[in-house]
Amino acid sequence: MWMSFLTRSVLENATSYAEAKTLLSDTKLLAPAYFILGGNRSGEASIITRSRTQNLNPLELDVKQGRWYVLETNYDHWKMPLFLDDRRTPAMKCMNQTTQANISIKTIYDVLSTKPVLNKLTTYTTLMQVSQGKLESFIRACPSPCMPW
Ligand SMILES: *[C@@H]1O[C@H](CO)[C@@H](O)[C@H](O)[C@H]1NC(C)=O
Ligand SMILES: *[C@@H]1O[C@H](CO)[C@@H](O)[C@H](O)[C@H]1NC(C)=O
Ligand SMILES: *[C@@H]1O[C@H](CO)[C@@H](O)[C@H](O)[C@H]1NC(C)=O
Ligand SMILES: *[C@@H]1O[C@H](CO)[C@@H](O)[C@H](O)[C@H]1NC(C)=O
Repeated sequence: MWMSFLTRSVLENATSYAEAKTLLSDTKLLAPAYFILGGNRSGEASIITRSRTQNLNPLELDVKQGRWYVLETNYDHWKMPLFLDDRRTPAMKCMNQTTQANISIKTIYDVLSTKPVLNKLTTYTTLMQVSQGKLESFIRACPSPCMPW
């Protein structure tokens, strides 16, 4: 399947987090993709790193182990990011400083607005809260000085 067709089909027809996760993990794809999936209950979030045939190295929220968020930039989560484009470390630093107690749409927006998480190539920021059916998008600019990529 094309990634966009699979996404559409899951959004239209999956009736639970578990079903969405299975479909996004196991349906054969034409090309690799990242899916970042959030459910509407506590503990429901995962990063699905797809090859054409499988979910490689799934990463699931695990609050008991201290993993209260999952974070994905443009690189496989178990590998070092490209040194020229490490937005994972600064974003994790922001998340860690924010703390689980203070996480909200507003504080996540702050994380995504922090340079170099935000850079000149950032075209938009979208925030979604599935339990409230909330989705907000913002067209972004990154005032200089700002990383070009
Ligand atoms: C959702 O399921 C219905 C009923 O099986 C089907 O007709 C429809 O094509 C599905 N939607 C997508 C996008 O696959
Ligand atoms: C953030 O916290 C996690 C979990 O404690 C830790 O593994 C990670 O190294 C921290 N990262 C940064 C950049 O502070
Ligand atoms: C968390 O939020 C409280 C109340 O809004 C604030 O006083 C506190 O400084 C925040 N903590 C952090 C780590 O941002
Ligand atoms: C969470 O999603 C399930 C499946 O769609 C739904 O049945 C349930 O009402 C939702 N719960 C909340 C709190 O939104």
